[in-house]
Amino acid sequence: MNFSDAERIASVLCDAGYEETKKESEADLVVTVACSVRQSGINRIYGKIKEWEDIRKSRPLTTVLSGCVLAEDKKKMSKFFDLIFEINEIEKLSDLLSVIPNPPSERINSAEGSLKNSRERDFSTRRSAKSVEMTRPNSFFQIHPKYESTFKAYIPISTGCDNFCTYCAVPYTRGREISRPIGEIIAEVKELTKNGYREITLLGQNVNSYGNDLKNGATFPDLLRKIDEIPGDYRVYFYSNHPKDMSDELIKTLSKLRHFPHYIHLPLQSGSDRILKAMNRHYTQKQYLKLVEKIKKAIPDVSITTDIIVGFPDESEEDFEQTKKVMEEVCFSMPFIAKYSPRPGTVAEKMKDNIPKEEKEKRWRELTNIQKTILEKENKKLAGKDFRTLIDSEKNNKYYGRTDSYKVVEVPKKQTDLMGQFVKVEIVGPSAWLLKGKIISSV
Ligand code: 5AD
Ligand code: SF4
Repeated sequence: MNFSDAERIASVLCDAGYEETKKESEADLVVTVACSVRQSGINRIYGKIKEWEDIRKSRPLTTVLSGCVLAEDKKKMSKFFDLIFEINEIEKLSDLLSVIPNPPSERINSAEGSLKNSRERDFSTRRSAKSVEMTRPNSFFQIHPKYESTFKAYIPISTGCDNFCTYCAVPYTRGREISRPIGEIIAEVKELTKNGYREITLLGQNVNSYGNDLKNGATFPDLLRKIDEIPGDYRVYFYSNHPKDMSDELIKTLSKLRHFPHYIHLPLQSGSDRILKAMNRHYTQKQYLKLVEKIKKAIPDVSITTDIIVGFPDESEEDFEQTKKVMEEVCFSMPFIAKYSPRPGTVAEKMKDNIPKEEKEKRWRELTNIQKTILEKENKKLAGKDFRTLIDSEKNNKYYGRTDSYKVVEVPKKQTDLMGQFVKVEIVGPSAWLLKGKIISSV
């Protein structure tokens, strides 16, 4: 979502006459797109603030903050930023910049890239940030993004969340769930596929409840079916699902579509019913496992990834054992394991963060090792098989890409430029975290 925010911010600034620079050292306006999911993300911003303070000793620099910021952090950070704006007020960004007293000159840097401004201005004084309050995000959706990639794009289909998982900052930073009109999404997918984009990712905090607030009654499966009708050689992913809202209709729909790989991200968070209740997740371990069984039955070659939090308040050894049990039973193709981090203003913040840091670390390592063992065994079965892969990066004379099931593949780099292309890769050296392969053909 932050990536998508940054692409839209870059677009507004370019329209206002700013120019992008890839080097932060050249920028004289920096836009930070914050992520409040964990404290570590916020701490990184404080690190950057220090760097900017040093730069400001020798030259002008304006700093802007947006993205997901909790009220408490906003208050603390206001003295360090020249402007803080709600991402939902993005269309006002260029106006807001023009009213900052003595705004900067020449260049702007966004979180994902940098922008130069052709207007020459003087910068001298420091102020507390101006902060803008939130409205409906129609304008956010309508901003045409400045896509970072020429073959991969992220499309927000909704923003905000109504679920209030007790550990989560999102409902406080993004507000209530608002779905983007289906016509706008389809138009963006059409434009991208027409321009040769190969991978599209639909984004929402809980894509399964897409459309609940729309008047035309469109549901998430409706949206997927409509997208699938668009011709072209492309694949579509979507994040994130909520187990409590994943319908039978969605599973059935997914099993039939051409452009949607058999891949589902299904956040577990914890395997313990007691912890799931304290997290306000509205499902039990049994219900989660039943859902996985249903998915595997309908889509036998499905790849399932997940999110897990270790060290939630009061998570006992027994609770943790339950998470390990689910991991072993489901055989996730990748779990994203996070150590619990209290977020200011959430319900869980009022619970005692009583699992010591070392214990969180130990549990994190334990789950990572379990996963490594599972993947070593599972990935061995892939040797000799071939998979459609989208080449999306290159490093040290190697190409990297992801299979349709979202596994990372490494292949030797050929003379021909394969960036952004689908190729067929035969797996020759599988290991836990990486599949080494060779290209058999273009697809
Ligand atoms: N502490 C640790 N992990 C968190 N997540 C969300 N909030 C927190 C938190 N306070 C994780 C969840 C979620 C993912 C995006 O981030 O696992 O699914
Ligand atoms: Fe946060 Fe829960 Fe909403 Fe996901 S579903 S964004 S974890 S509140």
